Amino acid sequence: MIKKHYQKFVAWYYDPFMKGLEKVLIRYRSQLLLQAQGVVLEVGAGTGVNFDLYPSKVQVYAIEPSLPMFKRASKKALNYPHIKVFNIGIEEVKNHPDLPDRFDTVVSMLVLCTVADEKKAAQTYYQLLSDNGKLLVLEHIHAGNRFYGKIQKWVNPIWRPLADGCNLTRRQDLVLKNTGFKPVTETFFKLGTDWYQAVMTK
Ligand SMILES: C[S@@+](CC[C@H](N)C(=O)[O-])C[C@H]1O[C@@H](n2cnc3c(N)ncnc32)[C@H](O)[C@@H]1O
Repeated sequence: MIKKHYQKFVAWYYDPFMKGLEKVLIRYRSQLLLQAQGVVLEVGAGTGVNFDLYPSKVQVYAIEPSLPMFKRASKKALNYPHIKVFNIGIEEVKNHPDLPDRFDTVVSMLVLCTVADEKKAAQTYYQLLSDNGKLLVLEHIHAGNRFYGKIQKWVNPIWRPLADGCNLTRRQDLVLKNTGFKPVTETFFKLGTDWYQAVMTK
């Protein structure tokens, strides 16, 4: 019951909360999504913030486990015939009757901070991506600066429950590389914390 109301609240405040950051992030999102090809899996689509940015020739399967977020994304997807939204998490993609077995593109934006097990999620990305496919990544990562990194470690236990499970202390770049992904291009940049943008292959 509390979870349901909390998820509703998160879905409601997410876009206004992100508005300032999005003025910068949209550039990084667009650069990546222009490279989306073929059959695409977007993991944790949230309110559908990326939907405007896909080339119309791709077929996007967007998944989102939070029902209030899913509802917002589904409403937005009505404007995009090439985007279908499913109310499931990454754990439920394999063997799903209405989803392909493999994807030409997997999109992971601001998601590996939130999934319960980021290593397992990265392994699932690897299994779902076709051999010549691309993983498009935009994630905030634990700050490299020792001072800010320490503050993030202290703040994380308070931040995580307030921010829908988001962790400030993860190194998604390393998790993905340790899973076997190889960066074709990668950019580290600062925006409040450290961020990682990459196109990766198997
Ligand atoms: C910070 S939001 C990011 C939303 C969107 N990707 C964006 O770029 O703004 C993280 C999203 O990941 C979703 N999420 C959490 N656990 C997930 C899982 N196991 N599988 C897929 N998505 C998940 C959340 O419901 C939430 O919508």
